[in-house]
Amino acid sequence: MPESPHASDGRHIPVLLDEVIAALQPEKGQRIIDGTFGAGGYTRRILETGAFVTAVDRDPSAIEAGRAMENEFAGRLTLVQGTFSTLDQVALLGAPDGIVLDIGVSSMQIDEAERGFSFQKDGPLDMRMSSSGPSAADVVNRLKIGDLARIFNFLGEERHAGRIARMIDKRRTAEPFTRTRDLANAIEALVGRNPKVPIHPATRVFQALRIFVNDELGELVRALHAAERVLKPGGRLVVVTFHSLEDRIVKRFFSDRSGAGGGSRHLPQRDQRLASFTPVGKGVVIPAEDEALRNPRARSAKLRAGIRTVNPALAEDHAIYGLPNLPVFIETARN
Ligand SMILES: C[S@@+](CC[C@H](N)C(=O)[O-])C[C@H]1O[C@@H](n2cnc3c(N)ncnc32)[C@H](O)[C@@H]1O
Repeated sequence: MPESPHASDGRHIPVLLDEVIAALQPEKGQRIIDGTFGAGGYTRRILETGAFVTAVDRDPSAIEAGRAMENEFAGRLTLVQGTFSTLDQVALLGAPDGIVLDIGVSSMQIDEAERGFSFQKDGPLDMRMSSSGPSAADVVNRLKIGDLARIFNFLGEERHAGRIARMIDKRRTAEPFTRTRDLANAIEALVGRNPKVPIHPATRVFQALRIFVNDELGELVRALHAAERVLKPGGRLVVVTFHSLEDRIVKRFFSDRSGAGGGSRHLPQRDQRLASFTPVGKGVVIPAEDEALRNPRARSAKLRAGIRTVNPALAEDHAIYGLPNLPVFIETARN
C-alpha cells in the first residue's frame, strides 16, 4: 500500500477534494456529516460554502487537533469522537443533506511510529485508530493459525498467507511479537524479496491486520446502511475508498439500492423494490493524472456517490457484499 503523502507541514493532503465537493454539492445553511474528519481537509471546504458540519473521527488525536477549526468556524462545526457506523446517532441532531466518507488511514496515523501502522519506522504492533480494543499484537499473538491465514489471505490477498501464519505461530510461542519491524523482518526472512515486486513483502500482511483490527469492512457496510436511513430525500452520499474490497462494497451497495442490478437471482421480489438512491454521474470517479502524480496515495482512490430518493430505506442484505466470515477476535482468542 503506498505511503501517505505529506503536505510541507506534515499534514494529510485531501484526496479527490474538488471531485468530492462537486458530488456532494454542499450549500449555505445545509447540514453535512463528514464521517472521516482526519485533518479536516474536506470539512474545511464544506464549511467555506456556509454549510453546517458534524465531523466524526474514531481517532481521539484527530478530534483534538480539530478543536482550533471548531473555534474558527464558531457554531458551524461540531466534532464527535466515534465511529461512522453509528451515523444514526450523529444524525439525531437533524437529518443531513449530505454525508461524505473518506475511508482509511490518515498521513498523521501512518507517520507516527507509536501508532504502529508502519514498518518503515519501528513502533509497537498496535494499529488501532481509536486507541482502544484489541491491538495488532493481540491478533498476531493470540488468533489460531487458520484464522490468521484467512485474514492475510482475504484482507491482504497475500499468497503466502498459510506459510506466514505458521511461521508466526512457531515464533510467538518462543517470543511474542510486539514491534512492527520485528514482524516485518520475520516475514521478509521467510518469503524473501522479489526484485520484480516493488513493495516490501510484509505490506499485504500489515494491510490485512489494519483492516481486521479496525473492522474496516464491517464499519463501511454499517455506515452505508445508516446513511441510507438518515439522509434527507435529495441528500447526497459520497464515498472515497482506497482498496478494491472497499470499492466493491460501495459499488454493490449503490448498484443494489439504485435498482440497477446486483440483486440475487434467488430474490425475484427485488425487481419490485423502489430505488433508495439514484447514482451521481456515470459510476466511479478516479483522480486526474496530475493529482495521481502529485500525490501517490491518490492513485488507488475511487469515488462513488448517490442521491437519496423519497422511497423508504430498503431491507439490509449483507450477502450482496460477498464478505467471508472472518474470526471475531474475543471469541476466537479465548478458545
Ligand atoms: C483518509 S483520513 C480522512 C482525511 C480527511 N478527509 C481530510 O481531508 O483530512 C481517514 C480518517 O478516518 C478515520 N476513520 C477511519 N475509520 C473510521 C471509522 N470507522 N469511524 C470514524 N472514523 C474513522 C481515521 O481515523 C482517519 O482520521
